[in-house]
Amino acid sequence: MRVLIDGVEVPEAEAGVSVFDWGLQRGFGCFEVIRAYRGVPFRAAAHLERLAGSAAALGMAAPPREAVEEWVRAVSRAGGDCQVRVLLTGGGRDPLVPAPGRVIVMWEPLPAVPEALRLLPMEAPWHPATDRSPFYAVKWLSYAANMASSDLARRRGYDDALLLTPDGRILEGPTFAVAWLIEGRLETPSLHLGILPSITRAVLLGEAAPRVGLAVAEGVFPLSRMLEADEAVALSTVKEVAPVAAVGDHPVARGDKGGALAAAFREIVAAETAGVG
Ligand SMILES: Cc1ncc(COP(=O)(O)O)c(C=O)c1O
Repeated sequence: MRVLIDGVEVPEAEAGVSVFDWGLQRGFGCFEVIRAYRGVPFRAAAHLERLAGSAAALGMAAPPREAVEEWVRAVSRAGGDCQVRVLLTGGGRDPLVPAPGRVIVMWEPLPAVPEALRLLPMEAPWHPATDRSPFYAVKWLSYAANMASSDLARRRGYDDALLLTPDGRILEGPTFAVAWLIEGRLETPSLHLGILPSITRAVLLGEAAPRVGLAVAEGVFPLSRMLEADEAVALSTVKEVAPVAAVGDHPVARGDKGGALAAAFREIVAAETAGVG
């Protein structure tokens, strides 16, 4: 089993949505990516909670939580070590063509993640940079600007982009959060900047950092703060806790603390996913 659409298994070659669906036409819809470890999804409840919030912000009806949870579990079991994508499409509005919104749950192979990321800082004027936006915390299908900035960074020889406010404050990556070690503590941009409330970031700050005895500071920081850091990490469901090797042409050192945080994160995952399923 690879793809479920509204809970029904669909052969890969036939898995698609209507060309009238606003999910395709206008990026109207929302999604989550959940990591499965040996067939067990990690923090699925937190992801589905965020998905429900995204749907509510867009005025979309959320599908029954228990059914989606079951589909995520089934697809995770089939995929093993994989990423599970959950998509809610907005459906069509053309009265002549029925195109109901779809709930798609599918597993995908894990993408290759570079051993250490080289990030190209760039301004992201489209980013709301505030949690006062009605679309704060919405993981919507309108990700074109994020994807285009990743592509731009790759064309320039980097692994990905590091998004900044127009006045040079650090936000996040196009698909990941960032944090760095400086003056013996872990610093990271505040959620008040309108960055996505990353589930990996929450686990790192609330659970992994205390395990390794690191204090955490959330705030608004200029790019120079990350350039001065001893170490830096990129955080996401897919990247987990990945070291940052460079920010622009400025190398960032690898050290013990980032490694300890990554190990603590893996221990948390292992404790929660081992023997389940
Ligand atoms: C913009 C953005 N920030 C951060 C993240 C990391 O979030 P999570 O740890 O929940 O995967 C993502 C995930 O895709 C993202 O799209």
